[in-house]
Amino acid sequence: MKLYYKINTYGCQMNVHESEKIAGQLIERGYLPTDDDNLADVIVFNTCCIRDNAERRAFGNVGALKKLKKAKKSLIIAIGGCMTQQPGVADMLRQKFPFIDIIFGTYNLSDFGKMLDDRLKNGKKFTSLIDSYSLNENVPIYRTSGTNAWVNIIYGCNNFCTYCIVPHVRGRETSRDKQVILDEIKRCLDEGYKEITLLGQNVNSYGNDRGETNAFASLLADISKIDGKFRLRFMTSHPKDLSQDVVDIMASTPNICNNIHLPVQSGSTSVLKDMNRKYTREHYLSLIDMIRSKIPNCGITTDIMVGFPTETEEDFLQTMSLVEQVRFLSAFTFVYSPRNLTPAAKMPQLDECVKKDRITRLIDLQNEITLQESTRCVGGVYEVLCEDKVGDNIYCGRTDEGKLVSFSSDYDLLGQFVNIRIDSAKHSALFGKVEV
Ligand code: SAH
Ligand code: SF4
Ligand code: F3S
Repeated sequence: MKLYYKINTYGCQMNVHESEKIAGQLIERGYLPTDDDNLADVIVFNTCCIRDNAERRAFGNVGALKKLKKAKKSLIIAIGGCMTQQPGVADMLRQKFPFIDIIFGTYNLSDFGKMLDDRLKNGKKFTSLIDSYSLNENVPIYRTSGTNAWVNIIYGCNNFCTYCIVPHVRGRETSRDKQVILDEIKRCLDEGYKEITLLGQNVNSYGNDRGETNAFASLLADISKIDGKFRLRFMTSHPKDLSQDVVDIMASTPNICNNIHLPVQSGSTSVLKDMNRKYTREHYLSLIDMIRSKIPNCGITTDIMVGFPTETEEDFLQTMSLVEQVRFLSAFTFVYSPRNLTPAAKMPQLDECVKKDRITRLIDLQNEITLQESTRCVGGVYEVLCEDKVGDNIYCGRTDEGKLVSFSSDYDLLGQFVNIRIDSAKHSALFGKVEV
C-alpha cells in the first residue's frame, strides 16, 4: 500500500527549503508527495509567525482538518516551524486543536522523521521542543524548486531588530562549514540544477560565529569557480554588513547574478534607530551608489515596513522619498505587525487607519516605479533561465537581474538559458519572444 504526505508551507524561502528537509525525511520512510488532503497519510504544517496574518492563516488551515481527522483516524497531523517555536504556543495549540499528533519546532526539525516513527510505534500524541539550535548536516533533502536549488549557509540571527520575532524562534547565528556547502552545491550542479540561491537571514555575517573574516566574499569566490554554467544568487543582505568586497566579487564574476535584495525597512534615520537596524538613511543611499558604480545594471530589491510605532508622517515621507530616489526593481511592502517578545510590541501603537493609508501610498508609488523600470526593458534582449512552464507552450524565467519574463515556445526549454527579446511589460512582469 502506498503512503502519501502533504506539506503546507508558510513564510520565507528558509521555510520553503526546510520543508524540503521535512519531505526528505518522509521520502526516506517510503512516503510519496501529494497535493490532496484526502489522500494524505501525513499532513505537516511548516508555519511562520513573522506577522499576525501568517499565524492566522496557519490556524485557520489546521482547524479545517478537524473533520478529516475524525473521518480518517490513521491520519497524522504535525505542526512545526517558527510559530510553534514561540514560548507558550505549543500549549495553546494543544488546547485549541487536541487532534494534532506531533508538535515540533525549528530547532529540532532534523528529528522530524524519528518523531513520526515514535508516533506510529507508540500511538501517543506528543510535543517535542528544544530550546537551542544545533547544526545537523545529516538531513536528507527532497528538492522541489525546479531549476533552482536553495542552499543554506547560515542559520539564525543575532540582530534583534526591535520589531522582529526571527531571532527568538531561530536562535543565534550558526554558519555551516565552507567545504560542506561547496560539496552540496557541486552535488546540486551534478544533478542538473542551473541556479543556486544561498540562504541566510543575514548572509553577510556568514563565518562570524566561526571567527572567520570576509568569509562571505571568499565563499562566493570559491563557489563561482566551480565548473559549469550556472547562476549564483543569495539572500538576504543586511545594509549594516554588506561590504565592498562582496560587491567587487559580484561585479567581477559573471555567474554571480547582478541582483541584490537589500531590505531598507524605512527611509528615516530616526525610525531605523528605533528599529535597531544600525545604519542610517545616508549609509543606505551610499551603499546603493557604491553598488551602482560597480554594477550599473544591478537589480536591487528591498523590504519596506510602514506603521512602526514611532513612525511619524514626516518619517513616512522620508521612506517615500528614498523609494523615489533609489528606484527599486520591486519591493516587498509590509504593515508593521506587533509580535510578542519584541520591544516594539510594548510601545504605543499607531492607528490602523494611518497604517492603511501609508501602505496604500507606498504601494502606489512602488507600482509606478516598477512599471516604469519594466517598460524600460522593452526592446532589449535578455538571457533568461527558463524556470517553469505556466501554460500551453508558455514558459517563464528570470533575467540575471531578477526580472520575471514570460514567453512562448513550441519546444520544451525548461532548465535552459535562452535569449528573449522583450516586447511588452505589465507591472513587474516582462513578455517576449525567443531570439533565434
Ligand atoms: N533577515 C531579513 C528579513 C527577514 S523577515 C532582513 O533583515 O532583512 C522579512 C521581512 O519581514 C523583513 O525584512 C521585514 O520587512 C518584515 N517584517 C519583519 N518583522 C515584521 C513585523 N513585525 N511586522 C511587519 N513586517 C515585518
Ligand atoms: Fe529579523 Fe532583523 Fe534578523 Fe532580519 S536582521 S531576521 S529583520 S532581526
Ligand atoms: Fe521565515 Fe516566517 Fe520564520 S519569515 S524565518 S518562516 S517567522
